[in-house]
Amino acid sequence: MPSSTESGQPTVILVAGLAGAIGSTLSVAVHLLKTAPHLVKPYLTTEERFAHLPLSEMVVAGWDLAGANLCRAIEDHGVIPASIWQPLQAQLETIPLFEAPEAGMDLDAAIAAVSRDIDRVESMYPQANRVLVNLLPAAPALAGGENEADFRRTFNQAPDRFPDPVYALAAIHKGIPVVNFTPNEIEWPWVVQQAAQQGVPLCGRDGKTGQTFYKLVLASAWKARKLKITGWYSLNILGNSDGANLMDPERAAGKLANKTEILEEILGYRVGDSRSCHKVHIDYYPPRGDAKEAWDVVDFEGLFDLPMSIRIDFQGRDSVLAAPMAIDMARWMVALKQSGRNGLVADLAFFFKKPLGLDPPLSYEDQISRLNTLDLT
Ligand SMILES: NC(=O)c1ccc[n+]([C@@H]2O[C@H](COP(=O)([O-])OP(=O)(O)OC[C@H]3O[C@@H](n4cnc5c(N)ncnc54)[C@H](O)[C@@H]3O)[C@@H](O)[C@H]2O)c1
Repeated sequence: MPSSTESGQPTVILVAGLAGAIGSTLSVAVHLLKTAPHLVKPYLTTEERFAHLPLSEMVVAGWDLAGANLCRAIEDHGVIPASIWQPLQAQLETIPLFEAPEAGMDLDAAIAAVSRDIDRVESMYPQANRVLVNLLPAAPALAGGENEADFRRTFNQAPDRFPDPVYALAAIHKGIPVVNFTPNEIEWPWVVQQAAQQGVPLCGRDGKTGQTFYKLVLASAWKARKLKITGWYSLNILGNSDGANLMDPERAAGKLANKTEILEEILGYRVGDSRSCHKVHIDYYPPRGDAKEAWDVVDFEGLFDLPMSIRIDFQGRDSVLAAPMAIDMARWMVALKQSGRNGLVADLAFFFKKPLGLDPPLSYEDQISRLNTLDLT
């Protein structure tokens, strides 16, 4: 059990969706930071930052559906070789994994249940900084989340359809910063207002891990080089539970919009003249598991309007890309909270497909430079 040490402060990462592909990968990564840091540290963008928040003093806790078991989940997701995680099994079994609020609970009862679990974690790690990372499945947008009364009414009609706000609001009420890694819209104005009142920073939305990351990098470079993008076709195949979930068009809508809008936001012009020529597709392909693949065809024009083209075949690993980003964001949010920031933080746009907050930087160079010059005093 970590305690405040002379060298630094412990941090608890509270994860909604802990037994998911990313949550379980994150749990192993956090434990390896104590026993084999060379497997994790070099892949963190915050490795050299936040000396007062030592990586070896981090722990995780969180929630998943009834019956979830972290080690079984790690095995089932198949993201991490057994030779890496099995030696940690005894430690992984000690991670507090709480049951999600019972199905059908109304908003206040569900928030109260999650708050009680947060109190339990606090009694286990009394001096630790805390941060919530939302890793729940992509959910259908909640129509009618404009104001609190609207939201409560819609939520309570189908409380299990979109559980994310329960965790976010419980965290905000406890003064805990929130990272929204999912494509789910939880940042309604009245939620952001409550965060501001409680002195809580929020960041989101939708981690920028693979295809959208290189799309942003290439689009920023093409724009700087004055090459005109005339079409971009993107296809993703993935076989994890996120991929299966995204076969539901209502659940995929937010993610597809985030993956699509980003291109024209960077370029500042519409791709294709009258018809949209930026297409993004996601397909569930079970044999791939978490090892997703993405193909891109990028058409562009140079001098004399002459056409050129590029093909990309990206063979990634969804959760291996995502988990270190979640650790980085958790550390940023603890540091931002300590420096007195509250409400939406646009400075962390580097990490997101749909960066929120006031005037978030859009191009790759602006996102990196904002991160590198972020003042935490
Ligand atoms: N992997 C990536 O590269 C990436 C990138 C951007 C965004 N995301 C998003 O991150 C999120 C997590 O991805 P994942 O691959 O870990 O998904 P996953 O489906 O493997 O994990 C989600 C977990 O949430 C649990 N869960 C469901 N309802 C719950 C509830 N009410 N309370 C607590 N737990 C609950 C599920 O049982 C599951 O274990 C998804 O929204 C995904 O779209 C992933």
